[in-house]
Amino acid sequence: MLAGLKRLEYRGYDSAGVALVTPDGELATAKKAGKLSNLTDDLEANALPLAQTGIGHTRWATHGGPTDVNAHPHLGDGGRLALIHNGIIENFAQLKAPLVAEGFEFTSETDTEVAAAQLAKNYRATGDLTAAMRETAAQLEGAFTLLAVHADLPGTVVAARRNSPLVIGLGEGENFLGSDVAAFIDYTRTAVEIGQDEVVTITPDSVVITDLAGKVVPSEQFEVDWDTASAEKGGFSSFMDKEIHDQPQAVGDTLLGRFDTEGKLSLDEMHIDENVLKSIDKIVVVACGTAAYAGQVAKYAIEHWCRIPVEVELAHEFRYRDPVVNEKTLIVAISQSGETMDTIMAVRHARQQGAKVIAICNTFGSTIPRESDAVLYTHAGPEIAVASTKAFLSQVVACYLLGLYLAQLRGNKFRDEIALILKDLQTIPEKIQRILDEGKDQVLGLARRNEDVGSVLFLGRHVGYPVAMEGALKLKELAYIHAEGFAAGELKHGPIALIDDGQLVIIVVPSKRGRDSLHAKVISNIQEVRARGANTVVIAEEGDEDVREFASEVIYVPETSTLLAPLLTTVPLQIFAMELATAKGLDVDQPRNLAKSVTVE
Ligand code: G6P
Repeated sequence: MLAGLKRLEYRGYDSAGVALVTPDGELATAKKAGKLSNLTDDLEANALPLAQTGIGHTRWATHGGPTDVNAHPHLGDGGRLALIHNGIIENFAQLKAPLVAEGFEFTSETDTEVAAAQLAKNYRATGDLTAAMRETAAQLEGAFTLLAVHADLPGTVVAARRNSPLVIGLGEGENFLGSDVAAFIDYTRTAVEIGQDEVVTITPDSVVITDLAGKVVPSEQFEVDWDTASAEKGGFSSFMDKEIHDQPQAVGDTLLGRFDTEGKLSLDEMHIDENVLKSIDKIVVVACGTAAYAGQVAKYAIEHWCRIPVEVELAHEFRYRDPVVNEKTLIVAISQSGETMDTIMAVRHARQQGAKVIAICNTFGSTIPRESDAVLYTHAGPEIAVASTKAFLSQVVACYLLGLYLAQLRGNKFRDEIALILKDLQTIPEKIQRILDEGKDQVLGLARRNEDVGSVLFLGRHVGYPVAMEGALKLKELAYIHAEGFAAGELKHGPIALIDDGQLVIIVVPSKRGRDSLHAKVISNIQEVRARGANTVVIAEEGDEDVREFASEVIYVPETSTLLAPLLTTVPLQIFAMELATAKGLDVDQPRNLAKSVTVE
């Protein structure tokens, strides 16, 4: 089991645990905060009894910090039932209150322990663990994969899934469950998919899948043809490829549980005084690299919705220029890792000047959230490839949620527009998926044809400008190609001198439905570079026929509101950089000279 957990460690690595059921009905558990090796060391020192049935988990903390107590499994039924969980249970607070009233005791801060208690309660009522799991799954809201064992049932594991992954591995005289096939690839390559809202019960020689009503459902079996090394990346050739494909889920998870069906945002998780947020008169975003570009995108949206001035500053510049910051300034510190030293120092400096700091962060329990007044987690899941992809999209989404929340608090004047944005935001995961499913091959072809390109210019306007800079950064980071992102309007003020015969220029075109004839202005910019010999590749909204005439190639992305367009237009640029670097034979996960989190100033 530990070998399987090791293969899944990329999914989460802040605590790990196992629960075993011995043939004579004893349940034994061990769990430890920190990397899997902490648990392995603990098990070497304090061996658990021999058993053929068990569940194991590596955690990436969401509710409750990464401590021994918050690690999974969580127990119920007087320590006779153990449960592990991936995902976020949105209604855990509603479920917990009646359980507490009934005398259930909780030792952790996790949503998982509530699911364990609910399952134990349902099991006590039915005496059937599979039926109890079905009932529990029906009671839960949000995203989850749940796996449970009970001391009464040696040889049985029961699981349920909604919105989180789970696959079955079929062995000989043994069966497996895992978040992906990497967990059991060393034992079997025959796997079975489990659908949404389905419950599965496995024993060494049986697998039964039912829906939540108890009806047996047909299942699809498949053979895994990955080698074990690639399975660590969930079957993708690189973590980068996997993380680009994670983006629909990452954006969905960042939105999850943060607004209700009436479009009312609830960010109480930030625990920050509403009066403080109402009184701020300036926002300064501090961040580095890709996170800073997420801030630049957000500036357009937050200023528009909140009518509060927003400055975006590279964290390392902010601190050293004696910035004007006071009690009425809100600092938004964006960091995937939460450990970037430049950003940490900017946060400290701002707090010394009396400013309030909200962190937008992907890594639970890291330094930046710890040192900030409040935190909004992005919930993008672990990002392992050094150059950021899914974290960027989820940072933009989290910044937007913050902007919309501030607008709501301050009595926004754009109620209808904001309702529309919230509705549109929910369609973004599916639209990203469409780009991945339908647009990837075209971008792959483009990248392969440009393998030997010496320099690439990216142009954009409005929110397309930071997208252009992010596209250029991806190409520098991954393919070591000189690339620059320019504001398209600035072109004529200098950069146009760079345009020569065959120069590759990638232009991010705003929607025709967007504001102030920007579309027409960008079309003019395309004509200007094309007239000087540029090879123009255009990223445009589906249905935009006007761009065809001036483009060597058009990459279409689905329609969305102007402010949400970066969540779509960035995706082909990420794929372009990844595929071009791959065509050059470079390691896209660990580019030269870079580090995932830069902990020096
Ligand atoms: C490094 C990484 C970049 C990242 C930046 C900020 O430079 O190579 O990909 O965007 O740090 O990282 P953070 O963890 O603070 O978002």
